[in-house]
Amino acid sequence: MRILFFSIIFLFSTNLVFANEPKSMAQKNGCFACHSVKVKVLGPSFVEIAKKYESQSEARQFLIEKVKKGGSGNWGNVPMIAHPKISDQEIGVIIDWILKL
Ligand code: HEC
Repeated sequence: MRILFFSIIFLFSTNLVFANEPKSMAQKNGCFACHSVKVKVLGPSFVEIAKKYESQSEARQFLIEKVKKGGSGNWGNVPMIAHPKISDQEIGVIIDWILKL
């Protein structure tokens, strides 16, 4: 009984911790349908994106807007869908993670 109790507490706490982790946020928001960390899928890999924008200080805000509104042109003709329902704050956490890869 005690083991069961602690298992439940453990599952709960890891869930709360990982829910705020950028990778889980990207997962939850469907980013990995078109992206992966290292390999190009439909969209560029997150590592490639980090490399492209590493020296640009205004990239963070630009990329938040781009994820929100979607669009094409920077990597080819395939457009990214818009993500109007994700908050700027949440996209910001994901972008900060991508840019540090
Ligand atoms: C329907 C497929 C699709 C989904 C879902 C998707 N992306 Fe994209 N993403 C793309 C494509 C295609 C591009 C390349 C766009 C271009 O050429 O400008 C892209 C580009 C990007 C870029 C670089 C933008 C630029 O202009 O350089 C970032 C950052 C990005 N995606 C993050 C995300 C995040 C974060 C999510 C989840 C919230 C997400 N993407 C979901 C397809 C997708």
